[in-house]
Formats: sequence, C-alpha cells, structure tokens
Amino acid sequence: MSHNIAIIGGDGIGPEVTAEALKVIRESGVDLATTEFDLGGARYLRDGEILSDATLADLRRYDAILLGAVGTPEVPPGVIERGLLLKMRFELDLYINQRPFAGVAPGHDRPHDFVVIRENTEGPYVGEGGVLRRGTLHEVATQGSVNTRMGVERVIRYAFGLASARPRQHVTMVHKTNVLTFAGDLWQRVFQLVAADFPAVATSYNHVDAACIYFVQDPHRYDVIVTDNLFGDILTDLGGAVSGGIGVASSANLNPARTGPSMFEPVHGSAPDIVGTGKANPTAAVLSAAHMLDFLGEFAAAELVRTACADPVSGSTSEIGDELARRVSAAS
Ligand code: IPM
Ligand code: MN
Repeated sequence: MSHNIAIIGGDGIGPEVTAEALKVIRESGVDLATTEFDLGGARYLRDGEILSDATLADLRRYDAILLGAVGTPEVPPGVIERGLLLKMRFELDLYINQRPFAGVAPGHDRPHDFVVIRENTEGPYVGEGGVLRRGTLHEVATQGSVNTRMGVERVIRYAFGLASARPRQHVTMVHKTNVLTFAGDLWQRVFQLVAADFPAVATSYNHVDAACIYFVQDPHRYDVIVTDNLFGDILTDLGGAVSGGIGVASSANLNPARTGPSMFEPVHGSAPDIVGTGKANPTAAVLSAAHMLDFLGEFAAAELVRTACADPVSGSTSEIGDELARRVSAAS
C-alpha cells in the first residue's frame, strides 16, 4: 500500500535533514508518494504565505506530514512559529507531542529509556492574552494558560495507554501544582481519575523544577512522563541534552483520533548558522520518520530504521544519511 506524504522541508537545515530521512526510510521498502510543500520563513519573505487555509485544506488530504524545521532570523519571532507550526498543531488537532529519550546521560554508566508526552494544543501556547498601552511606561502584557478538562484528560489517557504497553508500566505527571494551583488542580484530579482506570500502571508526580534535576541526576526513574505544553517544550530540550544531544531527538505530533494527518519533525530547529556546512545530524529527522512509519502501520520498516540508528554514525549530513541508508538496505 502506498502512503501519501506531505513534505515540508522548511528553512535552514530542515530541507537537508528531511532529504536524508527520506533517503533512509525509502530503503526499508515502504511505498511512499511524496509531495513537497514550499513553506517556512523563506516562502513568507517571498510572497507572504505562511499557511493559508487553502494550503491547510490541501495538507489534510495526506496520510502524514514530514517536517524538517521552520524559522529564519529575517522574520520576527513568532510569525512562522505561530502561523505555521502551531497552526498545524492546533488546526489538525495534533494533541500529543511524543518525544522519546534513550541514551546514557553524562556521568552515568547505563542507559535510560523514557518518553515525554507533551500536551500539544493548550496551555500557554494558545495565545490567550494581549497587550495594552504598548511601548508606554503603563504597558500591560498578559499571557494566559488554557487547560480544558477534555484536553487534559485525552493527553493523560494517551500516556497511560502508552505506559500499559511498556515493560515498566509507570507514568509520572510533571507540573507545578504548588504554584499554578488552578491548572495544577485540574491536572492532578484528572490524573488521579484516569489512573483509576489503569490499575496496573504505577504513578508518580514531580514538580517541573525538580524534574530538571532528575533528568540530569537520575533519568532512570522515568518511563512515561505526561506534562503541560510549555513544561514539555522546555523539558524535552533537556531530555535531548542528556540523551545523546539534540541531533538525535525525534518527535511526533499525533492526532490519535486520526481525524487528519499527524506530523513528524525533529525536536531541533532550523539552525541557520550551520546551513550548508554538512554539520547537521539527520538522525533526529530519520527517527522522526521512523515514528511516522509506525503510525502508518509499517512496523517492520520502522523497526529496521530504528535499529540502523542504534549505533551512532559520525560524518557529514549526507555521510550519516548514506550510512544509515546502507544499514537499512542491508537488513531489509
Ligand atoms: C518545539 C519548538 C516549538 C515549540 C517552537 C519552534 C514553536 O521549540 O517543537 O519544541 O515551542 O513547541
Ligand atoms: Mn522546543
């Protein structure tokens, strides 16, 4: 069966790593029909399009979206992030941001293996708030956090479902319930409610500041973590840093209800400072594409690609891609 994939290479190193990811996953034998979408900061500077409703409607027809990275220093912060990336997350209802972390953290002698499930459609990301008297001494800026019972429950339920299928069967909720008492209270109550439906899954809770210490000093304690959108954003950069670096950190923006395509992208950004130097590690993009294969039901192909990435490869962007493609081809 052929899968229709929308490719958004994007800006900076995005197109470079996406090309390598496609090269590698094609060697697994899956049948992919790809269509390139020219979107990102460069496109915006050319003709003003960020993500029109027509393009969004077009994207909905695909089985999945593979994205490199978007954002360029010539465009003010927020324009492409909100107008393209967050618009896709919200409009396509990609309410799960799944980010796996496996590796040996600095100073440790054995690998950890945990997954962060970040809520991806609510929290401080929704853009609630505004500004008054901008530029004056009386300026007021507010930025709220939106947490719905439905949104909190579906992400927590997903985390428990995932943990049920993992050997350790453990979920940690990460929040800041001691200060964010309104949102924290909702999260805490829903967490307990959902936990009651999964008696085999053990639970813990960490405040987000303490979790930062544990990510570095005791990452082995974690199996599945479920957290709010902004805490998840920050924690997953730290997760990357203690798990082999941001060059291997993959992510999946999932719509588990499958009312539209899910989107797969590395955790890293467009890294304009290294464009064209061959320094970008495509492994994060390759592993994100492997997750896409899983979501498309191509489990064997996904496993081949992940196995190929298990032993790190060094070299330039295309050398790493070539070597991973060779390994996948040899094993398939
Ligand atoms: C991420 C990124 C995005 C986010 C940015 C680019 C909007 O940092 O995917 O982690 O904050 O979610
Ligand atoms: Mn981030």
